[in-house]
Amino acid sequence: MTDAAKPVTTHALLAMKAEGRRIVMLTCYDALFARLLDAAGVDILLVGDSVNQVLAGEDSTLSARLDQMIYHTKIVRRGAQRAMVICDLPFLTYQVSKEEAIRNAGRAMAETGCQAVKLEGGEAIAPTVRALVDVGIPVMGHIGLTPQSVHALGGYRVQGRDQAAGRRLKRDARALQAAGAFAVVLELVPAPLAAAITKSLTIPTIGIGAGPGCDGQVLVLHDMLGLNDRFSAKFVKKYADLAGAVRKAVGAFAAEVRQGVYPGKEHSFPS
Ligand code: KIV
Repeated sequence: MTDAAKPVTTHALLAMKAEGRRIVMLTCYDALFARLLDAAGVDILLVGDSVNQVLAGEDSTLSARLDQMIYHTKIVRRGAQRAMVICDLPFLTYQVSKEEAIRNAGRAMAETGCQAVKLEGGEAIAPTVRALVDVGIPVMGHIGLTPQSVHALGGYRVQGRDQAAGRRLKRDARALQAAGAFAVVLELVPAPLAAAITKSLTIPTIGIGAGPGCDGQVLVLHDMLGLNDRFSAKFVKKYADLAGAVRKAVGAFAAEVRQGVYPGKEHSFPS
């Protein structure tokens, strides 16, 4: 098996950081996109609780449910061969107690076949990360803008802008690494701070709105494809205009049906 075909493991990700090879991560919520992204060489498919906003149309991730995450992670796994699949743990499935966190993360692992879970928080959640790692559940951390705390943070805004907040984020990142997390997402963090955190860690950082100094980058798939036309942000680069393509194709279909142009002879069965 060539390196490019080998399944992505936590050890492989550590090696990528050590060798300076950038890690590519995208959100993914279904088997069809999982197959396409895996074939395109994406390293990590994150079944983010952003599915609650992007596909389910909710205002935030707060109402995402574990069963919902398990359903989406299971179907993503069906489409993935090489890429690592990570299930986001939703709000209140890991904060109440370490025991509940183990039970819920364990369910996600056992019922979906994913290789890891992701949870939000720094120093305060590190003991829970340690408890999960100790029972054999790989954990990706997530600090900076943590969407499950959006109301406590006063909105979706850049974190770590002043010196004290920057120091707190550095402490959070170190605490997650010490607790055994294999990687950490840095969301909406000033680029110099994200670069400094990245340098200070042996585990990889994956940035979203955190500049080019991270070990890898993640975006929400539907944002970077231009499919979610209700969301735009400075850090999102749109690599396609799929919302425009859908509107054009569906408009053409509707017009042809109304004009009696579709279906033509070539789409019909003569007998
Ligand atoms: O839920 C999600 O999609 C995420 C990414 C934005 C990192 O957590």
